[in-house]
Amino acid sequence: MEKLLISGPSTLRGEVRVSGSKNSALPILAASLLSEGRVLVRNLPHLNDITTMIDLLNCLGVELLIDEKLGIEICAANIEEYTAPYDLVKTMRASILVLGPLLAHFGRARVSFPGGCAIGSRPIDLHLRGLEALGADISVDGGYIEAKAPNGLTGAHIFMDKVTVGGTENILMAASLAKGRSIIENAAREPEVVDLANFLVAMGAKIEGIGSDTLVVDGVEKLGDADFSVMPDRIEAGTFLVAAAATRGSILVKDVDPTALDAVLAKLEEAGATLEVGDDWISLDMQGRKPRAVDIHTAPYPAFPTDMQAQFTALNSVADGVGTVVETIFENRLIQTHEMNRMGADITINGNTAVVRGTEGLKGAPVMATDLRASASLVIAGLCAEGETLVDRIYHIDRGYECIEEKMQLLGARIRRVPG
Ligand code: UD1
Repeated sequence: MEKLLISGPSTLRGEVRVSGSKNSALPILAASLLSEGRVLVRNLPHLNDITTMIDLLNCLGVELLIDEKLGIEICAANIEEYTAPYDLVKTMRASILVLGPLLAHFGRARVSFPGGCAIGSRPIDLHLRGLEALGADISVDGGYIEAKAPNGLTGAHIFMDKVTVGGTENILMAASLAKGRSIIENAAREPEVVDLANFLVAMGAKIEGIGSDTLVVDGVEKLGDADFSVMPDRIEAGTFLVAAAATRGSILVKDVDPTALDAVLAKLEEAGATLEVGDDWISLDMQGRKPRAVDIHTAPYPAFPTDMQAQFTALNSVADGVGTVVETIFENRLIQTHEMNRMGADITINGNTAVVRGTEGLKGAPVMATDLRASASLVIAGLCAEGETLVDRIYHIDRGYECIEEKMQLLGARIRRVPG
């Protein structure tokens, strides 16, 4: 198994281009199942999770044409298979996003039940409850969710008990083809949900309240052609900015949507970064200074994103002062801190709270990635540490960061992939 070898410390300097958003591309690819026509999706990131979703569409019988720039032309009008098999769902939980579209368009779906994962139990009860409210008949058999709606779905008033990104997306997609009006209250407002809603509108869906916590969907009979470019990845952008801040560097992040990063940029300023923001770029300069520790409290958008928590925990561990990190979304999402402590970090965990005391410096060590964003935090820690850090299980990082080592190398990091 390949590993990443980082020789630190280094200071990140230079320019980096952000790829298309993984968390936006996945539901958009799933939503293409709703269309009777041909949809063209551009700016897809080159990532393992995207390949898994393409494999899944392929095994449902979707016609796909991929160009060299990772644009993809999709026609799902004539599929004959409605099963998302265990082998694919177990490698990527977001496979559950095909459930709503298959059900709404074809009246049936069979999707392997996703298990827990390293960051927590991650139930899908709210996805299923929402689809049932739209009239689906749902049962679980042999580890598979069997969903049926032979006469189509019907609009309903759905209140989401908890803010869920995937749950909102599944229900929104299904409601687009349901008969009549659906109202989704306490909907997730994440920019990726907005991107999906805009894609659905581009295919002909009628959605109001996009970007708010109440989505009003008037179901249409069918959806058609669209040509859509996936939004930039705000988490990839944020990760490079934090890496630069932690290494006391100065970078320009290009092809980004700064408006999606307000909570992250506010924390970077608090940490002592000088920021400048344009329409599609952000520059950060630490002027060679050590960052100041910041307190983090994760919550649904527009509050601070859980997907940036681990990176800020790494920053805090090399900062001046003490930062408290409270994780409210996923129960196990502080596990990477044990690996960081092996590098000399001073982090104590109490329930869902980590108290991070800044240290004079970290020391390189062999460490193991436990999930996608945790692996990014170990890379940041490795960039700050004296000596060699060897990050194992980097398949996690390849799920969400396009060409991480090439992009980091261009910024001056000494990082390379080595055989395991
Ligand atoms: C998405 C993102 C992930 C991000 C997360 C929170 C994708 C592919 N992944 O994951 O990167 O960290 O949003 O911003 O977009 N929950 C329930 N019942 C449900 C669904 C969720 O209790 O039916 C709970 C979850 O366990 C969690 C919380 O709700 O505690 C939020 O989860 P959710 O927003 O659904 O996360 P994902 O869509 O899986």
